[in-house]
Amino acid sequence: MRHLLDTKDLDRRDALRILDVAEDMAATQQREVRKLPTLRGKTVVNLFFEDSTRTRISFEAAAKRLSADVINFSAKGSSVSKGESLQDTAQTLQAMGADAVVIRHGASGAPQTLAGSGWISAGVVNAGDGTHAHPTQALLDAFTIRKRFFGEASRGRDLAGLRVTIVGDILHSRVARSNVWLLTTLGAEVTLVAPPTLVPQDVSAWPVRVIYDLDEAIAAGPDALMMLRIQLERMNAAYFPTEREYSRTWGLDAARLGALPADSIVLHPGPMNRGMEISAAAADSPRSTVLEQVANGVSVRMAVLYLLLAGERTEAEEDGR
Ligand code: CP
Repeated sequence: MRHLLDTKDLDRRDALRILDVAEDMAATQQREVRKLPTLRGKTVVNLFFEDSTRTRISFEAAAKRLSADVINFSAKGSSVSKGESLQDTAQTLQAMGADAVVIRHGASGAPQTLAGSGWISAGVVNAGDGTHAHPTQALLDAFTIRKRFFGEASRGRDLAGLRVTIVGDILHSRVARSNVWLLTTLGAEVTLVAPPTLVPQDVSAWPVRVIYDLDEAIAAGPDALMMLRIQLERMNAAYFPTEREYSRTWGLDAARLGALPADSIVLHPGPMNRGMEISAAAADSPRSTVLEQVANGVSVRMAVLYLLLAGERTEAEEDGR
């Protein structure tokens, strides 16, 4: 693997390879000595132009558990505030010896620009760009769903036969977009539920069903319900109901939680707006996988860094195709 930019670029075989390597990584995390020597001598740069808790710390933990050196860059407090460009910032970090650059950026397409620019030779991992894509989040979500439903028999399995419903601010969600492409590539049936104003205009081109009524979606008995954060900071011109109206109509409260099938699970990528899209009763229930998602994120990111920096490349990747 040369870069990881978007789950749209992954076919079923690529996706299963990452999930299966993540299984191996998760197994190593159960050992007394969790650190592996695999990436000794490699340098991973975390280049974060947008705030993050889970993704940044998880990539740092993943790189360190593989014995890579880690350089953390945050745009806040850097020379970006003096007008330094993405090109100059990236080339400065490359000059310090970066082998992989993990980038989060507010502009959709920034990781693709970096990977295709020729400015740097390092592999690029998209850690979330604008409203476009968040591939490692989708991979850790798929890993979590697979683990919960198939347990020890997960390896090599796709998600065929499972029904996943994604609820909330689809319009602004890179998590939703990346999950739609990955989950459907893996054979899951995906339904989106949102207020009409928070559904993207191009949704008819997506391989999903769209409905507007959460109670109808819950009555259909999904295997996994993924609640999305309402992104008030990106709301701009989109019409948004009042927070109270939103939580009453599209929030996962205790009654809706109780109406889900007994073996269904509840995911949330975090950070959560407790009391808005998800109640404390749902977030803290045994059905919730929120903290499993965080833990699985380290294994999935270990797998991605391993495949990027130590994995074999296909002929097309070697040729830069
Ligand atoms: N899920 C996620 O991307 O969280 P952070 O913004 O905290 O990284």
